[in-house]
Amino acid sequence: MSENDLQKAIDLIINSKYTIAFTGAGISVESGIPPFRGENGLWSKYDPNVLDLNNFHVNPIEAWKVIKEIFYDFFGEAKPNDAHFVLAELEMKGIVKAVITQNIDNLHYEAGSKEVYEFHGNSRMLVCPYCSKKYHASEIDLVEIPLCDHCHAVLKPDFIFFGEGIPKIAYQKSFEAAKETDLMIIIGSTGEVVPASSIPSFAKQNGTKIIEINPEKTLFTNSITDIFLQGKATEVMNELLIGIKQKI
Ligand code: APR
Repeated sequence: MSENDLQKAIDLIINSKYTIAFTGAGISVESGIPPFRGENGLWSKYDPNVLDLNNFHVNPIEAWKVIKEIFYDFFGEAKPNDAHFVLAELEMKGIVKAVITQNIDNLHYEAGSKEVYEFHGNSRMLVCPYCSKKYHASEIDLVEIPLCDHCHAVLKPDFIFFGEGIPKIAYQKSFEAAKETDLMIIIGSTGEVVPASSIPSFAKQNGTKIIEINPEKTLFTNSITDIFLQGKATEVMNELLIGIKQKI
């Protein structure tokens, strides 16, 4: 990451009217949650089919075993890292207006961000696929297959499975924010999953400037990114915060 690019990014952030963040699994890697793709990615260890909606309904016991291992036993202990906290601080300063996240780990809320659009849902809640009753995952003993106490159907995590639609409110708010924004900061996403990855492209079509933070280049980098800050989310976000504080 060049000093010149960092300073340009800081100036863009300070002068923007409506900055939003678009985050992917990479922002939570330094909280101990592996990414889905790339080296040591979850999909190199587990079959993505575990999150296929039909497979879940046909084979809930097998599916829940793996889902519990990945998203509750493993993710469960994760805490927000500096990158999450910097975004929350920039929201408090009125600089970041919203965070659109593909992540289901709840870490933006736990870091203090208020305006968060969870495009893929949230693992902290379970939902009954039939009566839509919701339950806090922390209040349910996941050793047994969780059943709805209303209609005894097998509960599923309240995040979207492959083949499932995007939560309506998150979808609507995300694209409204992408229309409003004049600066989007993309943090830790390959840009490989639609429709989420179409949000930055939609913003770009409306003239939005794009800052991207990632240790590696992605599908966004050579297509829509204006300033590529190569590095880990915590390192770059801390550098940005220091520079912003010096100028405001
Ligand atoms: N800081 C910033 N970015 C990082 C870091 C880090 N410390 N470590 C890894 N990354 C980057 C990787 O280089 C990669 O570009 O994070 C990205 C992770 O990519 P994916 O795992 O594909 O994450 P994401 O783009 O969010 O995936 C989208 O895929 O399986 C679905 O629903 C799942 O929301 C997920 C969606």
